[in-house]
Amino acid sequence: MLVVEDSPLYSAEFFAVGDPYAYLADLRAEHPVSIHRRPDGYEFYALTRYDDVYAAYIDHQRLSSSYGTMIDGSWHPEKDTASGRMLIVADPPAHTAIKRPVKHSGFNRAMLGNTGRTVRRNIRAALAELSVGDRLDFSRVVAPELPKGVLEVLFGVGPKDAAVLLEATRTMIGYRDGAYAGTSPLDSLVDAQLEVLDFVDDLIEQRIDSGADDDMIGYLAQCVVRGEMTRDVALLNGLNVAVGGNETTPHTASLAVDTIHHERAQWQRVVDGDVSTELATQELLRWTSTNSYVQRVTVADVEIGGYTIPANSFVTLWNMSANRDAAVFDRPDDFVIDRPDNRQIAFGAGVHRCIGAPVATLEIQTLIEELAAWDKAFVVVDTPRKLHSNFMLGLTELHVEVVGAEDAKDLAK
Ligand code: HEM
Repeated sequence: MLVVEDSPLYSAEFFAVGDPYAYLADLRAEHPVSIHRRPDGYEFYALTRYDDVYAAYIDHQRLSSSYGTMIDGSWHPEKDTASGRMLIVADPPAHTAIKRPVKHSGFNRAMLGNTGRTVRRNIRAALAELSVGDRLDFSRVVAPELPKGVLEVLFGVGPKDAAVLLEATRTMIGYRDGAYAGTSPLDSLVDAQLEVLDFVDDLIEQRIDSGADDDMIGYLAQCVVRGEMTRDVALLNGLNVAVGGNETTPHTASLAVDTIHHERAQWQRVVDGDVSTELATQELLRWTSTNSYVQRVTVADVEIGGYTIPANSFVTLWNMSANRDAAVFDRPDDFVIDRPDNRQIAFGAGVHRCIGAPVATLEIQTLIEELAAWDKAFVVVDTPRKLHSNFMLGLTELHVEVVGAEDAKDLAK
């Protein structure tokens, strides 16, 4: 098996300025299962083929989430500090018990409808502010409106509080990127974590006092009051949903606008109503693969892709690579806006499959519906700045100019 010393897959810089897709394509072709080492001794196995990634996702008995799902999330053999108490780092049966109330309260049909309406209102309001000739950073001005809408509904907060929470979770995940964290990444990480925890804890306190249960936080707070959930579990899962929701879709949204800019002729087919926004959304999710990988730890020897991965190994499942696997997707390296039978795996699979997938899909679909219906369009005017992270693929700057829809149509020719 290939062993890569000092692998670029550890490097946030490589994901910002290098070509991780090309690197992963080589691995997929020649070394679908490989080992990646760092001088400090940390090492992980990397799965790059769709079928292997999928097989690992659904084998939660042998591939545990409880040691953290990010490289460096914890130091083996120590479990993540929130292990067993927060969805993303809990294995069944604890995971099943936490998922039920979170899903029931935050991700039911009524919540989804309400979230969709709020996100649409926010996007419309942001677009309505813009005139032809305006220049703006889409990633800062419009993209945050998507998760803000979700927070407003699930957390029952106003737009201002939603913006504060958004900023803090952004630093938590992007702390290795100077765009969010300034010069002292670890201090910023700790401060941001405390800020988010304080914020969510205050909300839980308020809902315990008021007895309200009409949003996700309120429902979890009442579970605490009834003794069905401990307060730290309510807090940690509020945090999990906030981070999961905030640090993904804005990046997908910015990457979507950049993609539309480069694929204007294909986009015009959506504007003209020849391609459904559902199909376009699925392809944008595949193409952007915002959460590049997740990590697991083997609790027993596991056979994957013809190799045996021994117990107590870190294993990474590369969504961004699986989503470009020619064994599953025709022309995997082309953006095909009406791709049929799209089996994109951007949300993972198995018991941990993104609980927010329906919300995220709705957010992106709402954005592209609003962009398609807008009498204006965005043109990218500067090289976008990529997020410095190997875990989240996104843009920290996307400078655009507003043009009339007819001018954008001409650009498509
Ligand atoms: C395009 C946007 C998104 C992408 C690409 C994405 C991706 C993922 C992936 C790959 C997982 C699986 C993690 C694992 O198996 O270890 C996951 C889990 C999760 N996501 Fe998302 N996500 C997105 C949006 C959201 C949204 C909008 C929310 C909440 C509003 C959310 C909340 C969560 C939570 C709470 C989990 C943990 C679920 C569990 O462990 O059972 N995500 N997400």
